[in-house]
Amino acid sequence: MNLLILESTCDETAAAVVNDRLEVLAAAVASQDRLHEQYRGVVPEIAARAHVENILPVIETTLRRAGLGLQDLAAVAVATTPGLAGSLLVGLVAAKTLCVALRLPLIAINHLHAHIYACRLASGEEIFPCVGLVVSGGHTSLYRCASPLDFQLLGGTIDDAAGEAFDKVANMLGLPYPGGPAVSRAARHGDPRAYRFSRPLLNDHERLQFSFSGLKTAVRYQIAGPGRIDPGAPRPAEQTIADLCASFQEAVVDCLVGKSLLALEKTGLKTLCVGGGVAANARLRERLAEATARAGVRLLVAPLELCTDNAVMGAIAVERLRAGLVEPLDLDITAGLVRGPALSLPP
Ligand code: KG4
Ligand code: ZN
Repeated sequence: MNLLILESTCDETAAAVVNDRLEVLAAAVASQDRLHEQYRGVVPEIAARAHVENILPVIETTLRRAGLGLQDLAAVAVATTPGLAGSLLVGLVAAKTLCVALRLPLIAINHLHAHIYACRLASGEEIFPCVGLVVSGGHTSLYRCASPLDFQLLGGTIDDAAGEAFDKVANMLGLPYPGGPAVSRAARHGDPRAYRFSRPLLNDHERLQFSFSGLKTAVRYQIAGPGRIDPGAPRPAEQTIADLCASFQEAVVDCLVGKSLLALEKTGLKTLCVGGGVAANARLRERLAEATARAGVRLLVAPLELCTDNAVMGAIAVERLRAGLVEPLDLDITAGLVRGPALSLPP
């Protein structure tokens, strides 16, 4: 039994075919990074239009790679929440159209749950029950994951997402978009102790929440001078950029690792699964490995190719199909938190 999975929550148009034994038969992703890089952030309207152009070619490419036709599909699954409204709609309309035309069941995917499920799919191991950490451009959330059908939100960011902070710090420093990979590259040559940025909420042992907005401002003040946010400040020297990136990254990683450990402690769970674009960060992966080894916790981090948005992780839909969780064809999207363009400064 083959499922076609569609993903269009933000700025990647993706499709995959997965069978009910969780084998990935084919996948394709059309990235929009080049369209958004001039704005240093995702522009929702441009993203939605690009999805309209890309969705059918991506589906055709995926089916061709799998050596399958539409008649070989048993269900269509699509990410319906959270994301940018216009982007989500394109995927949902495509999925519904296929379901009507081919008389197939429609399965809904929560994009954040799918980011965690990437760990299950890639490892082939049972991961439930576990603590799940999703760190992406739009979200930074901790879950108690009892089963593939039961995710309870434990806490998340009260302002910016971790990836958003990486993107905006990159923007301030004149580094390219998306900012995460650029900041982490620059950080390799920097001293993480050069600047002592605060670790917001880290010492609050009652709350499983994050806050990255003030950290972003702290970097801005470091560039422009205390209390100033002068966008005309001269670009710092290369070593200063490297030191700022390393110090900023260390502060974000400290918060992510600290709160993940707190979630494990509070839930008593012994497995941590991590997914989302920021999970590709080498320093985060290294620090999570050290911390979980010390705490005697099993760690699964999504493989690099499944960290940023893709349809393969939507294989969580297989679990929903097995459980008979089929959606009506008047299903709507739930945008939830949306991600606007990053603070735009002259380069
Ligand atoms: O999961 P994703 O593709 O999209 C959302 O669902 O938001 O995540 C994209 C985010 C961007 O903010 C990007 O800068 C960040 O993931 N990212 C990274 C790294 N690679 C991507 N952040 C830190 N370090 C990285 N190596
Ligand atoms: Zn994502």
